[in-house]
Amino acid sequence: MKILNDDSRGIEVASKIIERGCLVAFPTETVYGVGCDVFNEEAVKKVYEIKKRDFSKPLIVGVSEVEQIYELAEVNEVAEKLIKKFFPGPLTLILKRKEIVPKIVTSGLEKVAIRMPDHFVPLELMKRSRKPIVVPSANVSGKPSPTKFEHVIQDLPGIDAVIKGECKIGIESTIVDVTTDPIKILRFGAVPKREIERHTKLDVELSFGEYKTSKPFYLFIGERVREGILKFVSDAESKGLKPLIIAKEDVYGKEVITVGKGKDYVRNIFDAIRRAELMDFDLVILEGFDDPEYGDAVMHRLKMLAGERVIRV
Ligand code: TXA
Ligand code: MG
Repeated sequence: MKILNDDSRGIEVASKIIERGCLVAFPTETVYGVGCDVFNEEAVKKVYEIKKRDFSKPLIVGVSEVEQIYELAEVNEVAEKLIKKFFPGPLTLILKRKEIVPKIVTSGLEKVAIRMPDHFVPLELMKRSRKPIVVPSANVSGKPSPTKFEHVIQDLPGIDAVIKGECKIGIESTIVDVTTDPIKILRFGAVPKREIERHTKLDVELSFGEYKTSKPFYLFIGERVREGILKFVSDAESKGLKPLIIAKEDVYGKEVITVGKGKDYVRNIFDAIRRAELMDFDLVILEGFDDPEYGDAVMHRLKMLAGERVIRV
């Protein structure tokens, strides 16, 4: 591992390392990030691996110039306002991705997260390599984000290089999805909600928080849940993954935890989730729940559990 200073020489060495398809950790104004060339899919794969991060959890793309945002994503009016006001700064925008963004960066989602760090190290690094770089936090998944050089060394001992420096703020960027109406805060962070509201003149909805789960949960909703789940299961199995289904009835001919319908579903669902967490499966599939009395409350929790992995069929 190379330890570099946050001076011109250190940044030059780091940019060469990135050009070679290797990984560099660096300070940003929020927390330390671990970066590589966004367009080098092998390198991006290494970022997920070194962070022990699930491939279903996408990475933020860092840019150093506003024009790069237009190359990577569709920029609507709300996004334009927020970019003008907060970039560079601790705000991440979720935008509709353009084809140029490799799917591995967005975990296959049609949206991409973009931010422009307000810190000379990542900005300079991107300018020298003339490319955007990914900017996820430089910790092992599940641990708090690193705000000191030592944290990065503890979490990512296999990293190719670390640039030493200061993170002024110490908490992560606020994440706002501006593709939805109303726009949504997906993660509270360094830019307060009222600031977003003030500058967009819009009400901002809060998205569901996220539960910490030991494996990914996929939530299926819509008219064709059963067919959707069966197809998803066979796709997963063909990739060598072991899925578990949590369902109202045992109708899949697969591994299922049955929770029953109506009030039974409500009574049993949390227990099923806990059991699923402890069992030896790679991913868990949830049948959505529709009920005049408890539907909203249950779905709120299931959506928190699934995060971005809500599948409409
Ligand atoms: O302040 C920050 O944002 C730091 C610095 C280092 O840039 N980065 C950071 O990245 O916190 P990370 O990977 O630890 O957290 C990014 C969050 C994750 O929860 C991820 O799921 C979400 O952003 N995210 C990324 N792309 C997304 C997308 N296309 N749609 C929804 N959420 C997305
Ligand atoms: Mg993180």
